[in-house]
Amino acid sequence: MDKSAQYQEIRARLEPILITESDEIAVLATVACELFHGLDPVSWAGFYRLVQPGLLKVGPYQGTHGCLTIPLNKGVCGRCARENRTQVVYDVRDVADHIACSSSTRSEIVVPIRDQSGRVRAVLDLDSEELAAFDQTDAWQLEALAADIGQVYDE
Ligand code: SME
Repeated sequence: MDKSAQYQEIRARLEPILITESDEIAVLATVACELFHGLDPVSWAGFYRLVQPGLLKVGPYQGTHGCLTIPLNKGVCGRCARENRTQVVYDVRDVADHIACSSSTRSEIVVPIRDQSGRVRAVLDLDSEELAAFDQTDAWQLEALAADIGQVYDE
């Protein structure tokens, strides 16, 4: 199954949940589960939440033990939250301050989750053991998903 078809299936399974569920943890946990199990190259899928200015804390995820805390001035997740824009990393070895939660990670994508006012509330992080596993298709798909997830902060 190609990538677009995988996203289509994931979106179909998530749509009714994203429309009806208003609990943040329930939404984030279910999205992490669907992305981890539904996208072939993913080795870690989950969220870091902006819990105070300048600080991300791990949220619901699937995969191996994730770092618990990421300051906003560190790593790919920190840059995503700081700049409020998607980060696509084809090779983590090219990123000087990449935070290696797992030494087998080769590429990653991180997408901001915004509330209705456009403020970053969390980031969605997907890792892969394959080089260049994520591209612009993933960015578009995950940004559309992020817009739906963000509604949980406005209820
Ligand atoms: N690689 C991320 C840290 C999170 S873990 O990969 C789960 C970063 O550089 O921010």
